[in-house]
Amino acid sequence: MQQLTRRELNRRLLQLGIGFPLLATGLYGCAGTEKAEETQGEDSAGGTPTSLRILILGGTSFIGPHQVAYALSRGHKVSTFTRGKTKPSVHADLFDQVEMLIGDREDNLTALENREWDVVIDNSGRNVDWTTRTAELLKDKVGLYLYTSSTGVYYPYLGDDIVETTETLTVEPEGIEDEDEKIEYWYGVMKTNSENAAKKAFGEDRTIIVRPTYMIGPADLTDRFIYWPIRLAKGGEIMLPGKAEDPVQYIDVRDVAEWIIRLAEDKTTGTFNAVGPVDAATNAEFGRKAIEVFDVESTLVQVDDYDFLLAEKVPYLVPWVPPIGKNYGSSLVSNKKALATGLTCRSLATSIKDTHDWWYSDALTEERRQEYEGKEDGLLAREGDILARWKERQG
Ligand SMILES: NC(=O)c1ccc[n+]([C@@H]2O[C@H](COP(=O)([O-])OP(=O)(O)OC[C@H]3O[C@@H](n4cnc5c(N)ncnc54)[C@H](OP(=O)(O)O)[C@@H]3O)[C@@H](O)[C@H]2O)c1
Repeated sequence: MQQLTRRELNRRLLQLGIGFPLLATGLYGCAGTEKAEETQGEDSAGGTPTSLRILILGGTSFIGPHQVAYALSRGHKVSTFTRGKTKPSVHADLFDQVEMLIGDREDNLTALENREWDVVIDNSGRNVDWTTRTAELLKDKVGLYLYTSSTGVYYPYLGDDIVETTETLTVEPEGIEDEDEKIEYWYGVMKTNSENAAKKAFGEDRTIIVRPTYMIGPADLTDRFIYWPIRLAKGGEIMLPGKAEDPVQYIDVRDVAEWIIRLAEDKTTGTFNAVGPVDAATNAEFGRKAIEVFDVESTLVQVDDYDFLLAEKVPYLVPWVPPIGKNYGSSLVSNKKALATGLTCRSLATSIKDTHDWWYSDALTEERRQEYEGKEDGLLAREGDILARWKERQG
């Protein structure tokens, strides 16, 4: 991919208003097991759900359209609340069945006043005050508040097995010099305090907190993972940065979106990490599965020297994040509780193929694709030279 520097990536994500666990290193996609693949699309609740009135704060960017599609397919009624700026790049045809409310979380919630829903899904919460205001406004009119949080609440990731009760950030520490670290801390604190604002207004027994790791899949405008679908489809020698044994985690956005709707149907309150794949995976396993996705001749070249990668401006590549320092445990987040409550994972092959097809569909303009694929200092352009230097060094 045209590898963005951490700073460029952080800036881009903030511009998009998109969340990011593990900004500095990060990553994930969802390589499900065969078993998980078999369960794809099944109704984990085992029956036809009662029709719900669902309000999605957001709903038109990445996770939102997948929630809309799944909710409609299960007979629910959906309202979205946005500024009317972002247009869905998947399932756009379904939005004529959606009540699209317009306002601004910053200063105009009029469209939400004096209305009732069974559940509100807060996707667009990236400011504690926004969540405080909507939760306070809706607490007597809506049954459940589901806040889409992030595993970013656990930053710095210092543990081996990060579970839902692991301490989360509530205050930004003083004295942090590194700009990217500051953003990581800000994001984690903002997400934790937003979770708390939702719980304060609705009470723990009416609140659901979902903490996704990096999400991959169609409609992802972050350019964090698209390197893989593009590069794997071309074939040849493909760089796999990181050590073979480095842990990796990731989740298909559709698995999170659909599970969120089922949590709402089942009124399963509580806090849940939304992390795949089902079983712990290494970087090498990710590479092995990824390289089989397209029917082209290709070989992976494992580039396993962190210093070399850093010098070559490949500090991370979703789903690989060097598991060192504050990112030690970024891919060691437990998904046990989520799996026990119905999270399923598509196969990595499905995520990569579908993301590839979306990227080359009419949903995106050629100009948008070129913004990534044509970037002169991007990883797609630099990969060949990096591999040549790596081989020279290896003798
Ligand atoms: N991407 C990841 O890997 C990842 C990982 C972990 C957690 N998360 C979290 O997942 C959540 C979902 O993000 P998403 O992009 O997929 O959500 P989404 O619901 O698909 O899209 C974000 C929505 O927010 C709306 N919005 C932005 N500013 C607004 C404002 N001032 N007032 C009202 N609406 C506004 C946008 O529409 P308009 O522009 O039209 O207003 C858009 O519909 C985020 O909270 C993020 O922190 C993401």
